Amino acid sequence: MPDPDLIAARAELDRLWARGRAFLGVDYAIMGGAMSWVSERHLVAAISNAGGFGVIACGAMNPQQLEAEIAGTQAMTGKPFGVNLITMHPQLDDLVRVCLAAGVGHVVLAGGIPPRGAVAAVKDSGAKLVAFAPALGLAKRLVRSGADAIVIEGSEAGGHIGPVSLTVLAQEVLPHLREVPVFVAGGLGRGEAILGYLEMGAAGAQLGTRFAASVESIAHDNFKRAFIRANARDALPTVQLDERFPVIPVRGLVNEGTRRFLAHQAATLARFQSGELSKQEAQLDIEHFWAGALRRAVIDGDVEGGSVMAGQSVGMVTSIQSVAEIIAELVAQATTALALRGAASAGRPAATARPATTV
Ligand SMILES: Cc1cc2nc3c(=O)[nH]c(=O)nc-3n(C[C@H](O)[C@H](O)[C@H](O)COP(=O)(O)O)c2cc1C
Repeated sequence: MPDPDLIAARAELDRLWARGRAFLGVDYAIMGGAMSWVSERHLVAAISNAGGFGVIACGAMNPQQLEAEIAGTQAMTGKPFGVNLITMHPQLDDLVRVCLAAGVGHVVLAGGIPPRGAVAAVKDSGAKLVAFAPALGLAKRLVRSGADAIVIEGSEAGGHIGPVSLTVLAQEVLPHLREVPVFVAGGLGRGEAILGYLEMGAAGAQLGTRFAASVESIAHDNFKRAFIRANARDALPTVQLDERFPVIPVRGLVNEGTRRFLAHQAATLARFQSGELSKQEAQLDIEHFWAGALRRAVIDGDVEGGSVMAGQSVGMVTSIQSVAEIIAELVAQATTALALRGAASAGRPAATARPATTV
């Protein structure tokens, strides 16, 4: 017989993330965070087919490549999915046009304040615009300029990160931004944590690391196995040696590459100090160190020399699971937490003491 506590808990979860589900047009308000080289048609379609919301990472693709990726994804799923574009891409306007012509319903603009032209094009087409906000003031500004939803991504996340943790960002933003749905990201690996943020007012959650290690992810087996081996403390931000030469903070697994990057910065600094390199040359030299490094790790499986971007949530990757399993597990964890609470407040012994699978 179905457990009444679990049924009530599932209804409560659906109430809590109703706004996120409606906004994305999905069963579960769980977005697969766009990950360059990883979030292509197979992973994106798998997330959407499992009831979540997949997002293609355009990264450095040109418009033709993006058009093919969108068409490939549409061939694998009839469910909604989005496309993440980096605002500093030199062909941003063309990429936006490609998305809109293909009928993509949600465009995510990442990596800075979205330029007005791109915002206007998305809005005029009727598609939804999603933007990232690293602080409350900026989130409000983005909403005023047309963002239909906001993602707040804490520094626990994998890839390029801001300085503030999700724990703090959520407290800063969620109570004060009710105009649009807000999705939380960074370091999320379990359903109970997602539930906590939903109760604070989040509309849904975005996860990257856990999906990168899924069966459907095209990432090299070495990449997925590195995730399984790693603990949260192995996923660290890049270290900047000298404040005159800024380094964009990227969270990833510590490896030979991250150690060589420190040595490279030190050597470049010495060449600058000796007059061999100008400041600009030295800065470029440091920036070029990681060129192509994510691809080397994700596609070629070079997890020692490449950039193994990962969030602190990597400690919660313990096996290679299908996307459907990951989503079912997250939903079950959130539901079980709610059901146990329901039973406790009714003074009944919890029938749900066993771990829930799906409801
Ligand atoms: C390997 C990897 C690559 C990523 N690439 C991108 C990207 O291209 N664009 C982007 O907006 N975010 C990128 N991210 C961030 C994710 O979209 C997501 O917000 C983040 O992974 C959430 O934190 P979590 O990894 O702890 O779940 C990347 C993350 C990872 C792990």
